[in-house]
Amino acid sequence: MILVAPSILAADYGRLHQQINMVENAGADWLHFDIMDGHFVPNLSYGADLVRQMRPVSTLFFDVHLMVEEPLNFLPMFEHCGADQITVHYEACSDLPAVISYLKQRHIKVGISLKPSTPAKVLKPYLDDIDNVLIMTVEPGFGGQAFMPDMLQKIKEAAQLINDQTVTLEVDGGINPQTAELCFEAGADVFVAGNAVFKAQNPAEIIKQLHLLGEK
Ligand code: DX5
Ligand code: ZN
Repeated sequence: MILVAPSILAADYGRLHQQINMVENAGADWLHFDIMDGHFVPNLSYGADLVRQMRPVSTLFFDVHLMVEEPLNFLPMFEHCGADQITVHYEACSDLPAVISYLKQRHIKVGISLKPSTPAKVLKPYLDDIDNVLIMTVEPGFGGQAFMPDMLQKIKEAAQLINDQTVTLEVDGGINPQTAELCFEAGADVFVAGNAVFKAQNPAEIIKQLHLLGEK
């Protein structure tokens, strides 16, 4: 099953509530929040307060992507913000098992994300304990970048390692109906899209096209 996760990084923050209602009504499955600390990535975005304030606005699955150094230090802030899943970066954690158990104890789903230069094989020891793998298809930090086709091989490798219906395989960065098709063929099943959805003339049509990939 294909899941579509619009990233509000590309939304109009002045009308955030309406923008979230719009993608929810258009059939989005998850809502993707990009949290950036200015250290792990060279950009700042927003924090747990924004996630918390949006929780009453939507029933979508809240998919929080933490692009922060040592996420364990930030998890207490995110614990009660209404996140359904928190995905951390493999490269940012000195103690990944501690992050996984912290989230599991609190019944928050947990994902591991890989930057473009990190190989899929690092996932191996953790796959029995996590819910989601997020393969970055651009360098993390900014929306609106071009998809990196070199990542398709890594998506295939991650899909082979996962080999299991319960761990989702998410792709993020430069995703539109064309690049998503390549990722789908490689084994991805969750598609984050920022600019492709929020800057589209007809966001509902883009979400529909992404869902249709699963029915071709
Ligand atoms: C980039 C973020 C992405 C970003 C994607 O670091 O992780 O989620 O919002 O934006 P687009 O879809 O515009 O490339
Ligand atoms: Zn993201």
